[in-house]
Amino acid sequence: MRKQIVAGNWKMNNGLSQTQSLITDLRNQTKTSDAEVMISPSFTNLWSAFDTLRKDDIEVIAQNMHFAEDGAYTGEVSAGMLKSIGIKTVILGHSERREYFNETDELLAKKVDAALAKGMRVIFCFGEELADRKAGNEEAVVGSQIKNALFHLGAADFQNIVLAYEPVWAIGTGETASPEQAQDMHAFIRKTLADTYGNDVADAVSILYGGSVKPANAEEIFSKPDVDGGLIGGASLKAEDFFAIVNAF
Ligand code: 13P
Repeated sequence: MRKQIVAGNWKMNNGLSQTQSLITDLRNQTKTSDAEVMISPSFTNLWSAFDTLRKDDIEVIAQNMHFAEDGAYTGEVSAGMLKSIGIKTVILGHSERREYFNETDELLAKKVDAALAKGMRVIFCFGEELADRKAGNEEAVVGSQIKNALFHLGAADFQNIVLAYEPVWAIGTGETASPEQAQDMHAFIRKTLADTYGNDVADAVSILYGGSVKPANAEEIFSKPDVDGGLIGGASLKAEDFFAIVNAF
């Protein structure tokens, strides 16, 4: 059985006191689903969040990392640093990193390797832009994003990979992919995996959908057979909304 996962991508939101009060609110919510729950505060609040939640059923994860072990990379954070405070999962390849920080497939392949080498789990994000979809190129774009950054890996590495399909046109826009569009793309992603790594690997990898998931649409999106959860932006910043999405399974 694939893992169901609902991860909150907090992006560059919440200082220390807001982080602490949102975590307090999250701890007061009741979870009625089996989904794994994750939140990703900013780097400055990771340790505090991790320390507060160490006995809770909410994993604290990072939004990014550098590929190098350490060294002269001013402003960067390594996998080893994340691990040293207990963080075991990192989001890589988010479209905002690709767009605003020029992260390419080649760079992301290095980051993925560095995370896996440290025994971390990667939530690997990708997705087409609106122009790609309008031109009917969404599968070609998504296929190449996955292949370029991940298909040098061995089959066993996929035990530590979670995929997150996030169509750029649906992020923060209020416009979601329809459940059918999400299902079609997730099925394509799983087939792409199966063609190279076989059905056993493809069937075991969780594929999350991200892009304007809200309490009102989560249940329908999650009901699709190849959608194994969500990567949630805006709605993850309110504890009640986030848990309504978690409990949509
Ligand atoms: P929204 O849920 O705000 O559209 O953001 C999605 C996202 O980027 C999650 O990584």
